[in-house]
Amino acid sequence: MLRLDRLLANLGYGSRREVIMLIRGGRVDVDGTRVVDPSSKARSADVRLDGVPLDHPHGVLVALNKPVDVVCSHEPDEGTRAYDLVPPHWEYRNPRVETVGRLDKDTSGLLILTDDHQLLHRLTSPKHHVVKRYVTTLAAPFDETMGASLTSGTLLIDGDANPCLPAEVEVLGAQSIAISITEGRYHQVRRMVAACGNHVEALHRTHFGEWSLDDLAEGQWTDIQRA
Ligand code: URA
Repeated sequence: MLRLDRLLANLGYGSRREVIMLIRGGRVDVDGTRVVDPSSKARSADVRLDGVPLDHPHGVLVALNKPVDVVCSHEPDEGTRAYDLVPPHWEYRNPRVETVGRLDKDTSGLLILTDDHQLLHRLTSPKHHVVKRYVTTLAAPFDETMGASLTSGTLLIDGDANPCLPAEVEVLGAQSIAISITEGRYHQVRRMVAACGNHVEALHRTHFGEWSLDDLAEGQWTDIQRA
């Protein structure tokens, strides 16, 4: 049980001062009874604001189908942000909702967001080798030499001291392949493809660990579960 003002502030409903005003204004009830004392204790699932249950009282874990031209940064001056495609008060939750790793501005597809920072660190830690699958449109046709390089475990990408771990490659078409990697280096797929003398025209992530995009529409998000 948490103090009502702390609980509402943690879920992003406003600053401590703002939520105290909401509570004192009679807009909050607990188990169907109006509560005007901000210090009274409650469980988030029992609380309603203006008669509406609280949003994601037990935490946020969602999949977003990120369109191109959307950035993963919190900075408001970098254009449309992934955080602009989910409820705005999520950014004010404590713990804050964050993207699990990043996708480039030019990359579309599956982006996980969560306020579970322990899960976030596990999913992004190099130790855990979480598989990410990218459908990759190439500027020039795929060939066996490129396949051998991507899967070799010896491919060096510019500036990096260590070779990339072996990728898995599925051929989808003459200039379309799916690349699955377990690392998360900066611009990794684009740089791996460039190191093979080819170029990425379009990049779309379809899988992240146990989750896949399925038929989630571009720009939409949905709740997901842990296995
Ligand atoms: N690799 C890239 O090059 N870009 C991404 O956004 C993700 C992986």
